Amino acid sequence: MSNKINKIGVLTSGGDSPGMNAAIRSVVRTCAYHKIECVGIYRGYQGMIEGDFTDMGPRSVNNIVNKGGTILKSARSTEFRTAEGRKKAHEQLLKANVDALVVIGGDGTFTGGLLFNSEYNFPIIGIPGTIDNDIFGTTHTLGYDTALNTVVECIDKIRDTAISHNRLFFVEVMGRDAGHIALNAGIGAGAEEILIPEEKLGLDRLLESLKKSKASGKSSSIVVIAEGDKIGKSVFELKDYVETNLPEYDVRVSVLGHMQRGGSPSCFDRVLASRLGVKAVESLMEGKSNYMVGLQNNKVELTPLEQAIKSKSEIDIELLRVSDIMST
Ligand code: F6P
Repeated sequence: MSNKINKIGVLTSGGDSPGMNAAIRSVVRTCAYHKIECVGIYRGYQGMIEGDFTDMGPRSVNNIVNKGGTILKSARSTEFRTAEGRKKAHEQLLKANVDALVVIGGDGTFTGGLLFNSEYNFPIIGIPGTIDNDIFGTTHTLGYDTALNTVVECIDKIRDTAISHNRLFFVEVMGRDAGHIALNAGIGAGAEEILIPEEKLGLDRLLESLKKSKASGKSSSIVVIAEGDKIGKSVFELKDYVETNLPEYDVRVSVLGHMQRGGSPSCFDRVLASRLGVKAVESLMEGKSNYMVGLQNNKVELTPLEQAIKSKSEIDIELLRVSDIMST
């Protein structure tokens, strides 16, 4: 294969996130700017296996910068996990004369991309797209900022009814293995307590904290819980546990769920997507592969995909302290 890149394939894979469309637009338009052909691959790696491709030019991405979801659709492909599936995908790329890939998604997407590269030496650059913000090598993944704003808006509304009824609300937010959404949206929305997988609060401390809060004169409270953290209990079991041990509390549960993944991307996510898409295409043009483009100190930088997957994006412990002080 010659080093010159003539045609780039772009796909979105795994859980969608706001800003993915803005990233597709950026990849397509950067290709057009540099006179490189671009092909959109539908439904992530599954569409790659099936040859579900569409030629894309600058006009095929009109009016999507503001749209949530992904026009290329997304999937979590089990077939791509097999050697046979990846072989089929490679054949489809060769047939369509695609000679490099930009993959937009989370760690599952990058893991699949790296494996594919190790087998076929196919140039790949990753763009981090997940609301969870759990990727090493970038301070922000695409969709995280939008999701934070969505969660804060929802909790503000929940607070209205919590105050009116003197209730305690457990609000479960997304974040399969990471507490970034819970911690930051929790502080932004003025939560009494924030439960995240990175810090084991424990049931006793939760009860203590709720007692303290009542004694300090608070009549309603919000506890934000990352879905990855149940202190060994589901959020509904947690409600029962607290009501049994602190009968003075009238508890309600609100699981925000997939609404957190939808909606128009924030300005921050649109700008980030535009910057990352440019860097992804230009990195491929420079002959780079197996990197993720990400934001570090407000600069777009490259991180080896392997490191992006293996290292952990740590939560800021100082934020836990801030949250503690704010709930005084
Ligand atoms: O990884 C993003 C995410 O939204 C997680 O926060 C959540 O646990 C998961 O995806 C849900 O995935 P699905 O939509 O496949 O149920």
